[in-house]
Amino acid sequence: MKLLVTGGAGFVGAVVSRLLLDAGHTVVVLDDLSRNDAAQVPADAQFVQGRVQDAAEILTPEAGFDGVLHFAGLISAGESMSLPELHWEANTRAGLNLIDAMRAAGVRRLIFSSTAACYGEPSELPLTENAVTMPINTYGATKLAVDLAIASEARAHKLAAVSLRYFNVAGAYVGADGTVIGERHDPETHLIPIALEVAAGKREKMPMFGDDYPTPDGTCIRDYIHVTDLARAHLRALEAATPGEHRIYNLGVGTGFSNKQIIDAVREVTGADVPVEWLPRRPGDPAALYASSAKAQAELGWTPEKTEVADIVADAWTFYRRQN
Ligand code: UFG
Repeated sequence: MKLLVTGGAGFVGAVVSRLLLDAGHTVVVLDDLSRNDAAQVPADAQFVQGRVQDAAEILTPEAGFDGVLHFAGLISAGESMSLPELHWEANTRAGLNLIDAMRAAGVRRLIFSSTAACYGEPSELPLTENAVTMPINTYGATKLAVDLAIASEARAHKLAAVSLRYFNVAGAYVGADGTVIGERHDPETHLIPIALEVAAGKREKMPMFGDDYPTPDGTCIRDYIHVTDLARAHLRALEAATPGEHRIYNLGVGTGFSNKQIIDAVREVTGADVPVEWLPRRPGDPAALYASSAKAQAELGWTPEKTEVADIVADAWTFYRRQN
């Protein structure tokens, strides 16, 4: 298939592009590089620097695209609370523009990077796709708005669509040929990459947001999914997408790890101390989030393989050391 990958210079988009190319697809990456680095785009993908808002320039009827995988967007829950307008623009307005551009060009297959943040504070765990969607941060709200738009587009205009609701994506893609694609955000806001910076001595202390949550050790619990496992699910979703249907799948491993447990894993993998500094809670953080991926397993035949947190952190560390 000929596929447009928005945000293909980002962490997940670049890994999925790699797997799509390996599977024989033609990949055109669209990325504005506002938060990403062109170096992550696979050399055998075509690269166009530009905004999703201008996707119609590439997504012409003549260009012959078979589908779009839409990764581009802002992902920091913390930032979405202080700068919500950026998230509504980059996630929702851009997403709606993309849906319009796809309709105009007759491109009727879409895989969308949705998020566990759509659910908000869960009423029961593990989270299934039937859980109530009530985001508690702007990030989740901006993504949920696009999910709803996709659902109506599928119903009314026969889009074949799959939204994949990611939990905490981590690790790094490590290819047989030595290619490593990892997580590098600017500014970095995620727990594991920041902890690795502390382990490497680039930062003095690990800022820890809150130790008074209603969890066994008082810190938040998240479900860490290895990026290569997550990426494999996209290829399955692309095959499974059916005209007129909007499917939603949660992608996680089904087990939660607390922030303290993650810091311990970073200490174990790196051999460093990782001193922490306890700070107040970060606004918009649910206490615990972990997935049931039973639906993805049953309907897509997808199973995560690298589920040990130490292995996930070890791959992230391999990437970190390559970069620094
Ligand atoms: N945390 C810290 N210190 C930091 C960074 C994070 O204590 O410097 C804590 C957070 O407060 C939170 C946990 O580590 O309790 C995880 O935070 P991240 O920022 O790494 O990730 P989030 O859980 O906020 O969000 C991530 C993705 C979202 C996705 C969500 C789903 O960024 O895109 O997981 O679970 F929606």
